[in-house]
Amino acid sequence: MDFIDLKTQYRRLKPSVDARIARVLEHGAYVMGPEVGELEQALARYCGTKHCVSVASGTDALMIALMALEIGPGDEVVTVPFTFFASAEAIALVGATPVFVDIDPRTYNMDPAQLEAAITPRTRAVMPVSLYGQCADFDAINAVACRHGLPVVEDAAQSFGASYKGRRSNALSLIGATSFFPSKPLGAYGDGGALFTDDDRLAQLMREIRLHGQDRRYHHPRLGLTGRLDSIQAAVLLAKLEVFDDEVAARIRLGARYGELLREAFADVPEMIRTPYVEPFNDCVYAQYTIEVPDREGFEAHMKSLGVPTAVHYPSPLHLQPALAHLGLHEGRYPAAEAAARRVVSLPMHPYLAEADQVRVAQAVRQAVG
Ligand SMILES: Cc1ncc(COP(=O)(O)O)c(C=O)c1O
Repeated sequence: MDFIDLKTQYRRLKPSVDARIARVLEHGAYVMGPEVGELEQALARYCGTKHCVSVASGTDALMIALMALEIGPGDEVVTVPFTFFASAEAIALVGATPVFVDIDPRTYNMDPAQLEAAITPRTRAVMPVSLYGQCADFDAINAVACRHGLPVVEDAAQSFGASYKGRRSNALSLIGATSFFPSKPLGAYGDGGALFTDDDRLAQLMREIRLHGQDRRYHHPRLGLTGRLDSIQAAVLLAKLEVFDDEVAARIRLGARYGELLREAFADVPEMIRTPYVEPFNDCVYAQYTIEVPDREGFEAHMKSLGVPTAVHYPSPLHLQPALAHLGLHEGRYPAAEAAARRVVSLPMHPYLAEADQVRVAQAVRQAVG
């Protein structure tokens, strides 16, 4: 059993993927070819934003968003400590300081009730993460940010395709930034990412920054990056978009089914497991299907012996990462993030997971928890 099976999806999409890649190889515009513009239009339509700017990775997307907002040294950006390293890394790479707000232990997303206390006169933006494929509570977060005149950037690296109160992830704040890393809900065959906004000026700036800050050929009013998405990756993503609605529906169905199977398996000892909590107003795309178990190390070893792969997203909260030690934040500072980092473990999840495999995973989880 694969933790994430990308081969079954390729077999389904082979004619379209192969034909689209072949077209790029024929026309030879490997960078900024016609597929890039076509993809940007399709993605903007999908998310319901005026603009989409494709970029080379999710990390570049976050950095380009912050650069377009002119955030740099001396500035603070508020995010969460329980996420992939890139969320805080992007803030630090533009020279700003990440400031953390603890998570709501039920959803693993930013706790809006704790946001206000993290805002200082140096705060320049708020960057919630929509972790594991479930959107953060944007109405609550936007309301606090708005009171302080702060822009909100969604780190939507794990939530492309998710919905919040009927609106799509990436369209929930001033800027949405996503990743097309192969294992993401919408994944390329290499690195990729995209930015979303309704703001004309920011969209133009982000387009320029992804191309070395160039506003016309060889004229650079600002610094930028080699931040473009390759035409071949755009071609792959266009093929994958053809079946994406179907895959999102499968993810939602499979997530609900895992919940049923695990609740049944633990009917006698419900306190031994925590299955994902999804807010009633959210549609979660389960970039990861993540549970909590008491003895994670023993659990993972037992699951491995039963032939079921698991993974930990993420074993250490960001305030305890060596690269951010200069922030002077110690153990005990963000208890919900620290508790989650000790207990979470993810199970195999992808849109092509068979019912029999889900049953096998649930039985293995019951056996491994003991
Ligand atoms: C929450 C989060 N933010 C940012 C990123 C960075 O995306 P990428 O790997 O495309 O640079 C990731 C990717 O794993 C992520 O999970």
